[in-house]
Amino acid sequence: MRIIFIGGGNMAEAIFSKLNDKDIVVVQRNLEKLGKLKAKYPHIKFITALDFTTNPDDIVFLSIKPYDAETACEEIAQYTKNSTIVSIVSGITCYTLSNWLINHKICRTMPNTPASLGLGATAIYFTSAITQQQIILDIFNKLGKVYSFDDEDKINQMTAVAGSSPAYVFYFIESLIASAVNQFGLSPKLAKDITLQVVKGSLSMIESNSSMTIEQLRSNVTSKKGTTEQAIKVFEQYNFNDIINKAETACYNRAKELAQLFGSQNATGNEKV
Ligand SMILES: NC(=O)c1ccc[n+]([C@@H]2O[C@H](COP(=O)([O-])OP(=O)(O)OC[C@H]3O[C@@H](n4cnc5c(N)ncnc54)[C@H](OP(=O)(O)O)[C@@H]3O)[C@@H](O)[C@H]2O)c1
Repeated sequence: MRIIFIGGGNMAEAIFSKLNDKDIVVVQRNLEKLGKLKAKYPHIKFITALDFTTNPDDIVFLSIKPYDAETACEEIAQYTKNSTIVSIVSGITCYTLSNWLINHKICRTMPNTPASLGLGATAIYFTSAITQQQIILDIFNKLGKVYSFDDEDKINQMTAVAGSSPAYVFYFIESLIASAVNQFGLSPKLAKDITLQVVKGSLSMIESNSSMTIEQLRSNVTSKKGTTEQAIKVFEQYNFNDIINKAETACYNRAKELAQLFGSQNATGNEKV
């Protein structure tokens, strides 16, 4: 069994960097990037185009951008008809992929970049034709936690909740740092150091106080008429929760739009293929 990646970009690297014990082939077109990856991962075979027929037990990861997916599928379809396909591509449904690839053995996933540290959150949906479920689950288990769903639309929702959300967290942290610099004149280095310590400490408090809700932890540091309460009031005044709801909904809608843009007859992904 080989694991073959079509596209050696950021997310693919986050995954294959954790699979040291596997027979891996990566299709990477750009020669400069190919050279860098070859030097970094000498145990992995890198090629510039798929030029061999894959075996029924091979697992082919589609790790290209949605806009490149149709062309990439056209290029590989003749070689991958019997293999299992694992897509990490945002938006594109199993239905569309199975048409492009003339292959029904499709699994759709939504990983996120903390996978490169073994701290990923991957959502996964298997079509009924997949027989290598456990092998695929084992691969993603090496990258962090795995959440299986039997409704494909959940993968679009998980794009908003997990796939894209490290970027929201980075955005919030950037904002905290910028405020410390701009409002209080801290140096960027000191502001970053203090903010990261706060974020790490807060996460550890949540993890080590599992009997308490996060809301309770927040209440405990928000005394009536105190300083923290003033800051929380501003979040509430400007509808912070509403902003988050709108952001996640926009992300989810974009995943569904991508499905429609690329010709899916089944944009919500509810149909089993
Ligand atoms: N990054 C994330 O946080 C994240 C999270 C969840 C899901 N995803 C999904 O993962 C997918 C990949 O994202 P990414 O961030 O890893 O993108 P990326 O870094 O741009 O990587 C995409 C790779 O695809 C290659 N490629 C494009 N067309 C190809 C073809 N016809 N044959 C072979 N390789 C081809 C590109 O090669 P060249 O360099 O030669 O153009 C590039 O290496 C996207 O669909 C994205 O929605 C990403």
